[in-house]
Amino acid sequence: MNSIVLYKSKYGSTKAYAEWIAEDLGCECRPAKGVKADDLLLYDTIIYGGGLYAENIAGASLITKNIEKLKNKKLVVFTTGITPLAVREYYDGEVLDRNFKPEIRPYIKVYNFMGKMILSELSAPHRAALKMLKKIMSGKENPTDLEKMLIELCDADGDFTDRSAISELVEYVKN
Ligand SMILES: Cc1cc2nc3c(=O)[nH]c(=O)nc-3n(C[C@H](O)[C@H](O)[C@H](O)COP(=O)(O)O)c2cc1C
Repeated sequence: MNSIVLYKSKYGSTKAYAEWIAEDLGCECRPAKGVKADDLLLYDTIIYGGGLYAENIAGASLITKNIEKLKNKKLVVFTTGITPLAVREYYDGEVLDRNFKPEIRPYIKVYNFMGKMILSELSAPHRAALKMLKKIMSGKENPTDLEKMLIELCDADGDFTDRSAISELVEYVKN
């Protein structure tokens, strides 16, 4: 099986997962920057990882916009983020809705992993974006429990990466 792991990572957590997955699968791993869909035609399995930024999976359009070319392959997308994995309404609801049109979902297996957010390492634009997101969400009159949690997460600070979380993805690709 000819596999490749591609990733887009600003602060390193998606890159770490991509490298762990590639190591366990014994396959190639590289940043998605500059990669075109046509470069991927020689692979049987394509694994794409991107950090979540305001619910968007960074760079995942490489897969979603090229689904017609890639849909006969085994396609896996993984996300990294700071929302707890137990909050399934977030991952299986909002994140899927925002990133994958219903017609392309059957072609892509999605996994979610915990990333990292070290506030002192964030770029100024990202710090400003978090402040704005928090302000917008806090302005809602009757926030849902999910919205309340997302407001709190704007202040999350820590490294929640966990290598053991990749095993299910690795097994899925191997079998
Ligand atoms: C501006 C900004 C927006 C973010 N939005 C989300 C989000 O919508 N959901 C989430 O779970 N995490 C969110 N995060 C946390 C990142 O997804 C997390 O830090 C991730 O690990 C980053 O991946 P990277 O280390 O590969 O860049 C956000 C972080 C920043 C700075």
